[in-house]
Amino acid sequence: MKDYSKYFKGPSLKDARSRGRTEVQHLDDAFEIPADMVGIGKGQTYYIQTYGCQANERDTETLSGILEMMGYTHTDEVKQADVVLLNTCAIRENAEEKVFGKIGYLKNIKKTRPNLIFGVCGCMAQEEVVVNKILEKFPQVDLIFGTHNIHRLPVLLKQAMLEKELVLEVWSKEGDVIENLPSHRANNYKAWVNIMYGCNKFCTYCIVPYTRGKERSRELDEIIKEVEELKNSGYKEITLLGQNVNSYGKDLNNDTSFATLLEAVAKTGIDRIRFTTSHPWDFNADMIDIIAKYDNIMPSIHLPVQSGNDEVLKLMGRRYSKESYLKLFDMIKEKIPDCTITTDIIVGFPNETEEQFQDTLSLYNYCKYDLAYTFIYSPREGTPAAKMEDNVPLSDKEQRLYRLNELVNKYANEANQKYLGQVVKVLVEGPSKKNPDVLSGYTEHNKLINFKGDASMVGQIVDVRVTEAKTWALTGEQLESNN
Ligand code: 5AD
Ligand code: SF4
Repeated sequence: MKDYSKYFKGPSLKDARSRGRTEVQHLDDAFEIPADMVGIGKGQTYYIQTYGCQANERDTETLSGILEMMGYTHTDEVKQADVVLLNTCAIRENAEEKVFGKIGYLKNIKKTRPNLIFGVCGCMAQEEVVVNKILEKFPQVDLIFGTHNIHRLPVLLKQAMLEKELVLEVWSKEGDVIENLPSHRANNYKAWVNIMYGCNKFCTYCIVPYTRGKERSRELDEIIKEVEELKNSGYKEITLLGQNVNSYGKDLNNDTSFATLLEAVAKTGIDRIRFTTSHPWDFNADMIDIIAKYDNIMPSIHLPVQSGNDEVLKLMGRRYSKESYLKLFDMIKEKIPDCTITTDIIVGFPNETEEQFQDTLSLYNYCKYDLAYTFIYSPREGTPAAKMEDNVPLSDKEQRLYRLNELVNKYANEANQKYLGQVVKVLVEGPSKKNPDVLSGYTEHNKLINFKGDASMVGQIVDVRVTEAKTWALTGEQLESNN
């Protein structure tokens, strides 16, 4: 394959691997729209499709904010849009296949609308293999930019409009923390709040440390300012976001920790606080105490375990054992007895034996999680695990996933039965996806509930009696007193 690296500023796996000592800068003036791009989008529309995790959803809000500042308006119709962006996810191969499918589909649209600017951004843009594939096979792409280049969108769009050639800008060394980015939030009462970017854990299967760079925490004051603003504009719930929120503050060179931050956020008095995601390794007793102490920190923790076997955990580079994980799990359940705990599990890690998989099942039977996101291991180029030989046939991996999911469903159902007859607090989101006559929302324990109620209460927290509990959702009726 032709080496494009000398022509473009593309991603570099070598750079992405390194963790430099250079201080991250916290900038509140790094974003600007060049004078000749102000208002360039007037009368034109943009379409963004987001794949993957909440970090991408939050980035899409920033991209939308930038485009709207330039005068573009949003459209749900990809066929009508003047700017189309795919904000991509690289976590597993099937996530990438979906994106390549969409890129293929957009070829025809580009033919009928040659002035359309078609961009690919997000985690896949940070991968050398992906960028080379796009360059080789998908000439319909006009612009590729990485997760550290979002603030450069106005400049890059301008270049893409002027140049016939593909515009590529992907920085593999992480960027600074930029505080003056605009955003168009997807929801009026629930908001994502970034508290840190990147990940330093380098679990051996995971591509995220390469696509999102080293850990960079936002200053506590900036986060609190954002939460206060959200609260003042009527937001009821915020979710603090980071690849590993428990590491928050370690890079700030002061005493700030995630526990300090959580407490400061709780004191703003916003109704509901959630956070995701947590690495068990640096989840400590201080954090549990703070969660237990404040009613506005929701009793719901996502605590990915990945495997229940010590040898596999070691090969995964997870830095904890089954025993230490269970100690933490028990401590959470002891201090916050009704706490919902959910997890992520990977089956079929290279050479995982049936016995090792049985350890995962036995851990699951002990923890009886409220829910788990379960995956078949997917090798990601450039990660250490991708180099490991693997003797487990795909059919065995599929079988393991099936067996594990049977347990997931069983305990999800059992966990939901506990709420039958109880009155729960629900943040009303709107009509349910399946039935417009029914409202839906989430309880404090993060359970989806569909209920008969007053549609004027959207965006409010109401009391709902649970009348039925199924595996994936509760059913209920809003109490009269809320009407
Ligand atoms: N293969 C399968 N699952 C993965 N995850 C991360 N990397 C991989 C991979 N290479 C899962 C982990 C993680 C979740 C977000 O995705 O379980 O917690
Ligand atoms: Fe990936 Fe591990 Fe970092 Fe999570 S903690 S993003 S699994 S490297």
